[in-house]
Amino acid sequence: MKLSHSLISLAGLALVNALPQASTSTPSSTSTPTQTASGSFATKSGLQFVIDGEAGYFPGSNSYWIGFLTNNDDVDLVFDHMSESGLRILRVWGFNDVNEVPGSGTVYFQLHQDGVSTINTGEDGLQRLDYVVQSAEERGVKLIINFVNYWNDYGGMNAYVQAYGGSSNADFYASSEMQAAYQAYIKAVVSRYIDSPAVFAWELANEPRCQGCNTSVLHNWIEETSQYIKELDSQHMVCIGDEGFGLDTGSDGSYPYGYSEGSDFAAALTIETVDFGTFHLYPSSWGTDNDWGNGWITSHGAACEAAGKPCLFEEYGVTSDHCTIEKPWQTTALNTTGVSADLYWQYGDTLSTGASPDDGNTFYYGTDDFECLVTEHVEAIEASGRG
Ligand SMILES: *[C@@H]1O[C@H](CO)[C@@H](O)[C@H](O)[C@H]1NC(C)=O
Ligand SMILES: *[C@@H]1O[C@H](CO)[C@@H](O)[C@H](O)[C@H]1NC(C)=O
Repeated sequence: MKLSHSLISLAGLALVNALPQASTSTPSSTSTPTQTASGSFATKSGLQFVIDGEAGYFPGSNSYWIGFLTNNDDVDLVFDHMSESGLRILRVWGFNDVNEVPGSGTVYFQLHQDGVSTINTGEDGLQRLDYVVQSAEERGVKLIINFVNYWNDYGGMNAYVQAYGGSSNADFYASSEMQAAYQAYIKAVVSRYIDSPAVFAWELANEPRCQGCNTSVLHNWIEETSQYIKELDSQHMVCIGDEGFGLDTGSDGSYPYGYSEGSDFAAALTIETVDFGTFHLYPSSWGTDNDWGNGWITSHGAACEAAGKPCLFEEYGVTSDHCTIEKPWQTTALNTTGVSADLYWQYGDTLSTGASPDDGNTFYYGTDDFECLVTEHVEAIEASGRG
């Protein structure tokens, strides 16, 4: 999801948090996970994901903001509610790139300035992500952790471009300097949580595109980066984080099926170091309608089935009528053999500071929408025999 107002809301949240909660227990700088706390590493078997030794279909959600919270109790609350509700996977931002050090109390993970990148491992840096991993691990929730944003929210590829020179995100893929900085960041994050059973998968980026580029640009970058991650960590799964653009299977010729964003979904799935497919669904942003989304889901499921890898229906959301619009998508995904998990965009809850950030697509724990799209969905998964 492209977020336009998120930085503002989070900056406010961080400011409020900085005052009374600054002394909440400090996470340890090194994570010391235990295999026993929440079972074995997540993996896949054929077209299905495997969590804690069980293959099946898994429900989950997204929270771009959880790693930027400064109050540990808020992090714990989210994972408590998730695990009680049966949500098994949370996708979080493992990046937060800046070009200037923000004000005190605002979390950032990496500073890019004048051709130099510096990773922030302090209390307002990766120690916040450490706590997310620790809390998820204690509650048996699995995490998808990604390394850079295509969009400018929380810096993104543009933060690298600003520091190293260039005019667009296409330069990010092409620059050996930027790729070296990106890989150094990947190495820092992967080595921090390499032993953690809380990691479901490492993810290259949020919604990587290269508009108007030959699809070989993204393809080669996906191949190189996924190979690099597998060399660092052969045990955890690796995925792309793309929207699923560029697909002939089931294509109706509409924009998302086309190749104009430089993406080739089926070709990327042939890369050995990519464990599973990811795709998103935002009909209103893509000029398609809500019902069209059902075909988008089955098309990707079919492509994943053909590739012999599971598909993760990784983001879907609307700004209103959540239950009416999103429920059919969940039903379709659960009924599609090649799809093995779905994560709605995005998770909402009531934190110590009030409602968690809402980019427009949030629905909240404890609401009727939550009952419809989480509680009933979890029941439907169990009833389907795929649970
Ligand atoms: C795209 O790149 C591939 C491999 O580098 C090349 O063979 C192909 O001709 C290119 N396609 C276009 C349309 O430029
Ligand atoms: C989808 O629904 C049909 C008809 O109800 C059923 O036979 C089939 O097993 C379902 N497929 C999956 C993957 O759940």
